[in-house]
Amino acid sequence: MDTTKALLFFLFNFLFVEYSFAQLCSDSSCRKGEPMIRFPFQLQNLQHKSCGYPGFNLSCDASNQTVLELPNSGQFTVQGIDYQMQHIWLNDPDSCLPKRLLTLNLSGSPFSGYFYQNFAFFNCAFDYTKYKLNPIGCLSGQSYTVFASSSVRAISFLESRCNLISSVAVPVQWTFAEPVATSDLSEDILLSWGTPQCGRCESRGARCGLKSNSSTDTVCSHVSRRGLPRGARYAIIAGAGVPALLFLVGFLCCLCSKVKRFTRRHLPIVDPASSAAVAPQILITTGGLDSSIIQSYPKTILGESRRLPNPNDSICSICLSEYKPKETLRSIPECQHSFHAECVDQWLRLKASCPVCRNSPDSKCTSIDIQDS
Ligand SMILES: *[C@@H]1O[C@H](CO)[C@@H](O)[C@H](O)[C@H]1NC(C)=O
Repeated sequence: MDTTKALLFFLFNFLFVEYSFAQLCSDSSCRKGEPMIRFPFQLQNLQHKSCGYPGFNLSCDASNQTVLELPNSGQFTVQGIDYQMQHIWLNDPDSCLPKRLLTLNLSGSPFSGYFYQNFAFFNCAFDYTKYKLNPIGCLSGQSYTVFASSSVRAISFLESRCNLISSVAVPVQWTFAEPVATSDLSEDILLSWGTPQCGRCESRGARCGLKSNSSTDTVCSHVSRRGLPRGARYAIIAGAGVPALLFLVGFLCCLCSKVKRFTRRHLPIVDPASSAAVAPQILITTGGLDSSIIQSYPKTILGESRRLPNPNDSICSICLSEYKPKETLRSIPECQHSFHAECVDQWLRLKASCPVCRNSPDSKCTSIDIQDS
């Protein structure tokens, strides 16, 4: 009878574990429109502590935004969570993310950046309005302006005119060479977590939970969240006879091995860690111009005398570097503004407007580029 006892013990244990966290830990959110919270996260006051993994506690602030407190960096609002990819998007509740990035320290938290891009922060006093520069308003004052840049050329331009504040590795959402010289860094940052690894469980449509209150081991459960009502589950657990349960175990074992054999043959195994490493960098832009239109714009090659189309304009306002002899310039016919051809071509592929005066050369075209790297 030892095997029967062992089977019964296993079955009750299994049912109990699945049952307990399915009951206590239903999805929750601070309000409509805020991210859905479930394991490994736990929403204070709305979910039991055992519904979350240590370090993943969230709370709702006064305006019912979801808030994450990082041990060494304070509170951030949670903008989104991808449970399958194990990604979380954060921003600053006081709407000055760049300020928070200057002191961001993720140590002591389960999170780390997914893509990092280095930004140099500068404090500048020159009149920047004639260049295409994007200042950080919330860090600037009346007599100075703060810029952040990850472009080598823009950094060398700013270095000679401004004071370097700091160089920071920013956990950006994607990395790509932007045709803009500076960024206001207001977009959400992207962090990811490695433990607990529930991405695979989530991608099968199942839910993860703690095995017991005293351990950090997790189990993956197939309990449907819209399953049987509470009473019916009690009835099944308490009332079903032993022979029925034993029959069920035998039947499930048989079914399991069949299903396993089937899935092994038919379904590709997706490893979230490896698919994450090759995540495509997606560049979605609207309003760029067709390259045939761009190519039709007039080009000039500067001679040794560097005679410029507009003598007052000796710096390309896209890449902020001076025009040099033999360089190719392209001008936008509608407004006569000129730039390095390589800079303006890249710009126009993303935006159908002049970077200086914002006039639109051709607003008919809209394109969506998705670049797989
Ligand atoms: C982050 O914070 C920890 C703990 O306070 C500290 O030991 C560490 O030096 C900090 N890291 C940086 C880069 O400041």
